[in-house]
Amino acid sequence: LRQPAGRAAAAFLALAALLLNPAPASAHQRLLDSSPARDDAVAEAPRELRLRFVEPVQLAFTTVALLGPDGAPVRLAVARLHPDSATVLVVAIHGPLHAGAYLVQWATASRDGHPVRGEFGFAIAEGAAGLAAGHAAYPGGEFGAGVVAPGQPALPPEHHAPHAAAGAFPADAPAYVLVRWANYLGILGVIGTVVFRLLVLGYLRRRRVAAWEALLGDAARRAAGIGLGFAIVALISALGRLYAQSLAMHGAAFALDGERVLTMLQRTIWGWAWLIQVGAGAAALTAFALARRAAAVPRAARAPAAAVPRAAAAWTVAALAGAALAVTPALSGHAAAMAGRTGTLAIATHTLHVLAASGWIGSLFVLLAAGVPAALASGAGRGDAVAHLVRAFSPTALLFAGVLMASGVFAAFLHSSSLEALVASRYGALLFVKVAIFLLVFGIGAYNFLRVRPGLGGDVSTRRLKLSAAAELVVAAAVLLVTAALVATARPYEQEQEHATRARAPLDSPAGP
Ligand code: HEM
Repeated sequence: LRQPAGRAAAAFLALAALLLNPAPASAHQRLLDSSPARDDAVAEAPRELRLRFVEPVQLAFTTVALLGPDGAPVRLAVARLHPDSATVLVVAIHGPLHAGAYLVQWATASRDGHPVRGEFGFAIAEGAAGLAAGHAAYPGGEFGAGVVAPGQPALPPEHHAPHAAAGAFPADAPAYVLVRWANYLGILGVIGTVVFRLLVLGYLRRRRVAAWEALLGDAARRAAGIGLGFAIVALISALGRLYAQSLAMHGAAFALDGERVLTMLQRTIWGWAWLIQVGAGAAALTAFALARRAAAVPRAARAPAAAVPRAAAAWTVAALAGAALAVTPALSGHAAAMAGRTGTLAIATHTLHVLAASGWIGSLFVLLAAGVPAALASGAGRGDAVAHLVRAFSPTALLFAGVLMASGVFAAFLHSSSLEALVASRYGALLFVKVAIFLLVFGIGAYNFLRVRPGLGGDVSTRRLKLSAAAELVVAAAVLLVTAALVATARPYEQEQEHATRARAPLDSPAGP
């Protein structure tokens, strides 16, 4: 009798245990361990976070945020599963790391859909390997503002935490986008003028055709006048950028505060880039004015021998100023905000991209506004003169168009953590619009090259060229406008991180470890 009673008691206890204990199938997701481990002090800055859970992780419901010593989120890549284990989450760290205490905040869902959150801290020891030098918390405005210039002390606290008023004027505010657009137009125009003079007119000059002398001199003089106009646009828009950046960084109340503006100019890469831009813009303006004057001296009159070297020296200065201007957008935006070797590569890629855009689109403008009028003013044979100019322009334009596309695609690759993240982001949408409009520019350019160019020689074909080249320029200006918004838009992993930051509050779930 005792045996069946014992069995019954055991069955009862098992049933009770089953009813009182949650079944394994409905147990909630839980963090088992991580790297860096909870409360660990690491001697090497980690390049990724690894979180090991008890259940396979459902990526669609999972976000991870990393808060730095100043409480600001650190840029992270999109979270992925470890290739060998669906319970391990891997998140690459893209943002710069400094010594201090870090907080990892994660949120995910159990298999049954129950939301689970948790957080843990770790510290990076002072002097740890792999720490970023010179990067500060992003203080608002264009992205280069978050990078402390070499040899400069960190930004004072009022620059670190953009308050509500400063946040009200972000770098992608329409007014700031328009100012940036005007700035790009000025830069592309200055460099385009130099490319037109040195490569297009230079090529024709080297062929030493006596009949072209007057035409080339007139085209160079007109080009210098156009370059002067673009240098003025670059300088005025640079003043607008300074105000817009100060407004974005310091808020309306302090936008014109001399001390803060000076600190921004002295201590951030953005500020250095601005100073280079203004210096190079002023040098270009002076050089174009001198080149114009030198070209205006009639060859047979007043000191003709001195005028030619003076003009050559002025164009050399304009070329150096153009090269300096080309690097300034890269130092103000996303490229400057990237750390280490990738940052250097991004700055070089952006600079090449700006040079190529100027070499194609900027010099096309100067061809149309200086070269064609000079050819038309050259009297008999003017149709042929236009044809010669366009034939001299085409090879350089083709080369620059190729470099522009290659550097653009590479820049897109550098700024995207993955194709899925790019497609899902606002950055990706803007890039898509940019490339779509660019394809239109490319199509019009190809039409000009393949259909208009071979037929040049008469007045009708010149009119056709003017019309289709103007269309190419107008659409290219639209590409530039989209670019002015693109460079101020959070890149895919920054957007992911914003979502994660928004998703983490409030941390009220009891299920965290
Ligand atoms: C007419 C053609 C184009 C023009 C005039 C143009 C012009 C520019 C300019 C001025 C910049 C700003 C660089 C900076 O601020 O550092 C830029 C950036 C960029 N461009 Fe283009 N571009 C053109 C075509 C393309 C194409 C075909 C692509 C290919 C995907 C591309 C992709 C990019 C990317 C990814 C950036 C970086 C934006 C960022 O800082 O986040 N561009 N472009």
